[in-house]
Amino acid sequence: MSARLRILGIETSCDETAASVVLRDENGRGEILGDVVLSQLEEHSVYGGVVPEIAARAHVEALDMLVEEALLRAGVTLSDVDAIAATSGPGLIGGLLVGLMTGKAMARASGKPLYAVNHLEGHALTARLTDGLAFPYLMLLVSGGHTQLILVKDVGVYERWGTTIDDALGEAFDKTAKLLGLPYPGGPAVERAAKSGNPDRFSFPRPLVGEARLDFSFSGLKTAVRQAAQSIAPVTEQDIADICASFQNAISRTLKDRIGRGLARFKGEFAGSVEHPALVVAGGVAANQTLRATLQELCDRNGFRFIAPPLQLCTDNAAMIAWAGAERMAAGLPADDLDVAPRSRWPLDADAKALIGFGKRGAKA
Ligand code: KG4
Ligand code: ZN
Repeated sequence: MSARLRILGIETSCDETAASVVLRDENGRGEILGDVVLSQLEEHSVYGGVVPEIAARAHVEALDMLVEEALLRAGVTLSDVDAIAATSGPGLIGGLLVGLMTGKAMARASGKPLYAVNHLEGHALTARLTDGLAFPYLMLLVSGGHTQLILVKDVGVYERWGTTIDDALGEAFDKTAKLLGLPYPGGPAVERAAKSGNPDRFSFPRPLVGEARLDFSFSGLKTAVRQAAQSIAPVTEQDIADICASFQNAISRTLKDRIGRGLARFKGEFAGSVEHPALVVAGGVAANQTLRATLQELCDRNGFRFIAPPLQLCTDNAAMIAWAGAERMAAGLPADDLDVAPRSRWPLDADAKALIGFGKRGAKA
């Protein structure tokens, strides 16, 4: 069995600056010793989206202090940690540079190994930190930049079963909110409005439903929302509520179909070998109660455990990056050279092919 590891993690791939110290004990159990996240929401909200240059500058200004704070909260110094893990992709290149360079400098100065972590791997392994989940399991990542269904087989072994061919789900929420005049970020605003709306008033499209492939598509939905709003303009508050509720309804039904097929495939591939199959959800959209209820019900019906880590670990954070570093180190995977470069695109599954029509780049794609 592996040793007790304490890892310092750094995350700067989008609009959260974060640092964390995580412990992985000799039995593979995780504990967050110190964790700080600084959101740049205010800096970006006036622009209705993440502005890369503003994000990079904000990371530079905050990161040193956050690393110090994370170490302080954990009650350790740099010399007490076993390695440094920094997100090196995918994401906005300016921010990645800030975090990775900081990680490299600290590794160099302290003589500790550096793990250049894939941000998606951080999301993929979080359920092992929070719930001690055993491999293999399915993970649905739904954020502003990603919508992927991933088979998590082992540390460093992932299969992408599905991805979006256009917009990420969070992006669809944000764009829908924008065209309805709701504030940024759109997800929470749409969810709030939907509470008093009629989910059956509009019949919005559910692209790819019924298809055997496990991919997603959300750009048509956004267009349908615009057309619906234009056709009844000027919209009242009740119209907005009805559109939002119908929009969420279309997404729920889409997820039911797409993820339902994913669960069936998992059962087929691991029949007899996995006693308690599980679906993990991550990403900011996982905060949505309607979607959570849909996934919970789907899992209940199919004999799957549904695992939604606490929201602060579903959205971007450095604990998941530290944990991914710890898992890599414990698995005996090699540390990275100090000349490792950040990558704005970095699929978790090296065999995953770019999809036809894939060209849209979300905040983090
Ligand atoms: O994971 P996250 O914090 O950052 C990214 O990595 O993108 O996700 C942010 C996304 C945004 O698109 C936001 O609108 C969406 O998650 N989101 C929600 C909700 N809360 C945040 N979408 C739907 N319902 C919510 N309650
Ligand atoms: Zn993320």
